[in-house]
Amino acid sequence: MKKKLLGFLMAAVMVVGMVTGCGGGSTTSTESAGGADDSSSAKVEDTSGDGGDIQVGIVLPTKDEPRWLQDQKQFEQILGDAGFTNQVLFSQGSSATEKTNVETLISKGIKVLIICAQDGAAASAAVEEARDAGVKVIAYDRLITGTDAVDYYVTFDSFAVGEAQGQYLIDNAPEGSDVPLYLYAGAATDNNAFIFFEGAWSVLQPKIADGTFKIANSSEAEALKDKAELSREEISKIIGQVTTNWDFNEAKSKAEAHLTAAGADAKGDVLVLAPNDGTARSIADVFATDKDISSYVISGQDSEKASVQYIIDGKQSMTVFKDTRTLAADSVAMAVDILDGKEPATDSSYNNEKIDVPAKQTAIVVVTKDNVKSALIDSGYYEASDFTGLE
Ligand code: BGC
Repeated sequence: MKKKLLGFLMAAVMVVGMVTGCGGGSTTSTESAGGADDSSSAKVEDTSGDGGDIQVGIVLPTKDEPRWLQDQKQFEQILGDAGFTNQVLFSQGSSATEKTNVETLISKGIKVLIICAQDGAAASAAVEEARDAGVKVIAYDRLITGTDAVDYYVTFDSFAVGEAQGQYLIDNAPEGSDVPLYLYAGAATDNNAFIFFEGAWSVLQPKIADGTFKIANSSEAEALKDKAELSREEISKIIGQVTTNWDFNEAKSKAEAHLTAAGADAKGDVLVLAPNDGTARSIADVFATDKDISSYVISGQDSEKASVQYIIDGKQSMTVFKDTRTLAADSVAMAVDILDGKEPATDSSYNNEKIDVPAKQTAIVVVTKDNVKSALIDSGYYEASDFTGLE
C-alpha cells in the first residue's frame, strides 16, 4: 500500500460460542468432492469408521480460498468435540458438484445439512432435495435464495462488513476533493456480494455525491452517485461492471485494465474498495506496481493469514475479522437443538425472495496494523509465529 497506513480501530465484540455435547461417537471426516483440477465429479469416501450414518453434513464452496479452510477447521473441531458424526465436503466452485455432495450426504442419512452455497439461487434445487428427504437445512454464511427449503441462516453481519470497509476508506482518505475511488465487488451469484456493496455504498455515497471522492472505474456507479439507496437491480448493474467473481485472477486483470484506462486524474493518492482479502491482495499488487499511483488505501475481509501479513507489511490497509469459531459454533448449536427436537434461537431474519429465513447474526471486528495482536493473536485465532514483523 506503500506509504501510508493510518490507524483506525473499531469497537470489537468477540464471542466464542460454546457447544455442548450430544450422544454418539465423535467422528469427523473431510473429503473434497472434486479437486481444484476436477470440479466435475464427486467422489466421497466414508471415512467415519462406522461404515454408516453421518448426523450432520457440511458443504463448503471451495478449498481454494483460505477463508473456507478456516471454517472447515472449526467445524471439524467443534463437531468432533460435540460428539457428532459429520462430514465436510467441498464443491470446488461447481453447483453441480455441490448438488452431488448434498445427495451423497442425504444418502448417508444426515439429519441436518449446513451449507454455504456456491451459487445462492442454483443451490435451491439441492436444498429442496434435502428438505424432501426430511433433512433440516441451515444456510451458512451465504443465503440460499428463491426457495422455502431453508430452515435457518447463520451469518455474519454482512452489511456491517461493507460499512466498515467504506468507513475505513473515508477515515483514511487523503485530503482534498475528487479523490479517485476504485470500486470492486464479489460474485453476483453470492447474495453477500450485494449486502457488502450496499453497506459500503451507504457510507461512501455521500462522499461521492459531494465531490470528495470520484469513482474511477464504474460508469454505472457514477450514474447512480446521487442515490443513497440502491435497488438490487441497480447494485447488479454496478457489480456487473466491477465484479471480481471472488476470483484472484479476475481481480488482477480487472485492476490492470482499470489502471491502463485511467487518466492522470484517476492516479496519485487513491482509495480502493476491495471486497475480500484474496481479491485485495491481487488488486493491491497491481496498484503497488503502477508508478503513477503514489499511495493507496485498500479494504479487505476474512483476516486470511496472507492478508494479515500484508497488513503488517503495509501492503493492505485493513481486513474484517469474521470469527469462524463463532459462526461454526452457532450453526452446530442450531444442529444440536434440531436433533434434540428444540427450536433453535435466532435474532433476526433475512428475506430470500421467497420467505423470511430466521437467522442468527454475528458481529464483525475491523483489523488494522494497530490491533492485529489483540484481535487475532490474543484471541487465540492465530499464533504470533504465523507472521513475521509483528510487534
Ligand atoms: C463470504 C466472504 C468470502 C467470499 C468469497 C462471501 O460469501 O462471506 O467471507 O470472502 O464469500 O469466498
